[in-house]
Amino acid sequence: MSRIVYVNGEFLPEEDAKISIFDRGFLFADGVYEVSTILDGKLVDNAAHLARLQRSLGELAIPAPCSMEEIERIQHELIQRNAISAGSIYLQVTRGAEDRNFLWSEDLKPSLIMFTQTRGAKMDKVADVGLDVISRPDIRWQRRDIKTVALLPASMAKREAVAAGANDAWMVEDGFVTEGTSNNAYIITRDGKLITRALSNKILHGITRKAVLALAEEAGLAVEERSFTPDEVKNAAEAFVTSATMFVAPVVSFDGAKIGDGKPGPHTRRLRDLYIAFAKNSLS
Ligand code: PDD
Repeated sequence: MSRIVYVNGEFLPEEDAKISIFDRGFLFADGVYEVSTILDGKLVDNAAHLARLQRSLGELAIPAPCSMEEIERIQHELIQRNAISAGSIYLQVTRGAEDRNFLWSEDLKPSLIMFTQTRGAKMDKVADVGLDVISRPDIRWQRRDIKTVALLPASMAKREAVAAGANDAWMVEDGFVTEGTSNNAYIITRDGKLITRALSNKILHGITRKAVLALAEEAGLAVEERSFTPDEVKNAAEAFVTSATMFVAPVVSFDGAKIGDGKPGPHTRRLRDLYIAFAKNSLS
């Protein structure tokens, strides 16, 4: 079924949407993006996503294509035009188009595109079954705090995970886990500590991460923001990932070793329930 998508001021059937071959997003991965979840036809924690969009644009000196209020208006119109009740909305801003040149012109007009995706049943099944994860070297650039569209290393790691019979990869640098290919990574120790890497330019500052850490106390968990090793993952009581689309999803094995009893654990389930309640409260 054809969707209506948004491209630079126009709502169009997806097959009619066009972007220049000279767009710097296409030629240089010179662009940033956000993915917000749609529940009940509304957006989850969207102000936080737009704040991160503004930060990503600022770090790359890409001018905003319009105000954040206007972006939110377009998001809502697109959700309505596609009658989506559960799914996600992807938005991407690139620096704009001009003849290929490493140096860009200061007066480029940024490009804004958006499309919706419906939520597959697979996402909810993951919560029941859990993910098998393997480790892969983190070969990404050093500014992972900027949500750029340069996702090839993450795509490659995920593909390697699937080829190895797993579902996803956690990336490892200098002996420590950084994050998942498209999610933040956590372990829960046997003595009830929730451990996740501290914020820096080494990981994306997840919007779901922030919400989940604020809910940890309610789940009876003490938070330690520090780096952890692959061995700590194998010895953990539980492990999980967070992202806008996966919410809180259990990890049940790591590099072939069962985590805990190899089933989604009680703390992870509780955090997922708390997060979903938070998400429903954050709708706009
Ligand atoms: N990915 N880390 C990476 C590398 C990510 O790509 C993502 C999100 C996250 C989680 O961030 P948040 O909680 O704000 O979604 C962490 C999105 C969902 C994607 O690329 O589809």
